[in-house]
Amino acid sequence: MIGALFSLAKPALHALDAETAHQLTIRGLALMPLAPAPKDDARLSVELFGRQFPNPVGLAAGFDKQCEVPDQLLSLGFGFVELGGVVPKPQTGNPRPRVFRLVQDEAVINRFGLNSDGLEAARQRLASRLGRPGIVGVNIGANKDSTDRIADYVTCIQSLCGLVDFLTINVSSPNTPGLRDLQGEAFLDDLLARSIEARNKTDDGRRKTTILLKIAPDISLETLDAIVATALKRGIDGLTVSNTTVARPETLREKALASETGGLSGKPLFVPSTKILAETYLRVERKLPLIGVGGVDSAEAAWAKIRAGASLVQLYSAMVYKGPGLIGDIKSGLLQKVEKEKTSLAQAIGRDAAEIAKGLF
Ligand SMILES: Cc1cc2nc3c(=O)[nH]c(=O)nc-3n(C[C@H](O)[C@H](O)[C@H](O)COP(=O)(O)O)c2cc1C
Repeated sequence: MIGALFSLAKPALHALDAETAHQLTIRGLALMPLAPAPKDDARLSVELFGRQFPNPVGLAAGFDKQCEVPDQLLSLGFGFVELGGVVPKPQTGNPRPRVFRLVQDEAVINRFGLNSDGLEAARQRLASRLGRPGIVGVNIGANKDSTDRIADYVTCIQSLCGLVDFLTINVSSPNTPGLRDLQGEAFLDDLLARSIEARNKTDDGRRKTTILLKIAPDISLETLDAIVATALKRGIDGLTVSNTTVARPETLREKALASETGGLSGKPLFVPSTKILAETYLRVERKLPLIGVGGVDSAEAAWAKIRAGASLVQLYSAMVYKGPGLIGDIKSGLLQKVEKEKTSLAQAIGRDAAEIAKGLF
């Protein structure tokens, strides 16, 4: 039903600039009567972080930046949704236009720069839905003009712990100058130590708020070694791999738009983000669960993320091109995979990581 509505609305939405179309989509979702999420086949269920995910297909950060429609998004069939990025103080982000559709490449370039209504607005919206079903997390960042970026993450954790299931520390957005430097070993060690400490002090002990770290695809394997070592040392709960890329693959067809500054997502991100996911899996040795993000636009792509090492997957850009019907298509396609290969999602995690890391999908 919602998939059919998207097909009708897509030409009109795509005639508008990408940000206006997105704002209309959020407004449309906000008007949608709240329906319970469709019931998923038990074989899609994933037990992780002390929670039961009804299916492994999540919405990636950036779609509902202001935490306005989490329940409507869950009712589309996502197994979990990540809201935000949220930063402590309201900030407007970069000037418009700041998001571009590369239609021929089924890709998006964005340089929003973490535009956010701020932490207090997010906290109030999340508090008002407390007690509703569904797994919800928030992606957190630092203000552009912050003089103590680590303190910004700590503030977000202190404010949101207990209101959501998970918080994702975003040190990988390419659109806040210097943010990705936080992936450097010394910074990261301090950031993760203080984040975990803040979580442990704030949580009421009944149900732990999961803390994840989201990394960029554009890192060297040496940097990845250090990130994994620090994440393990500091007791982070999992890693989200990956954010958008600043690289511009030669194969992009929309040459003019490809020169726009920002992070590239969607189909062209699939291969690099899945390779770095597999490299991460080979390093964490099953000690840390991974969430695979980047170019998931089909059951085939989601299955590859799982085989590369993901326990859960997320998507954003493919929703722009394929609409919400994609969620159901991926879930039924995953069921076909496990049936055909006489396996389970759990057994498939990381099965082909060594090959995928070499580029053999
Ligand atoms: C318009 C837009 C805004 C985004 N905003 C954020 C953000 O605030 N925080 C974050 O960690 N990732 C953000 N992302 C990255 C996505 O969460 C995801 O990692 C990336 O788009 C790759 O997934 P995809 O290829 O399925 O889109 C954004 C992506 C897009 C397209």
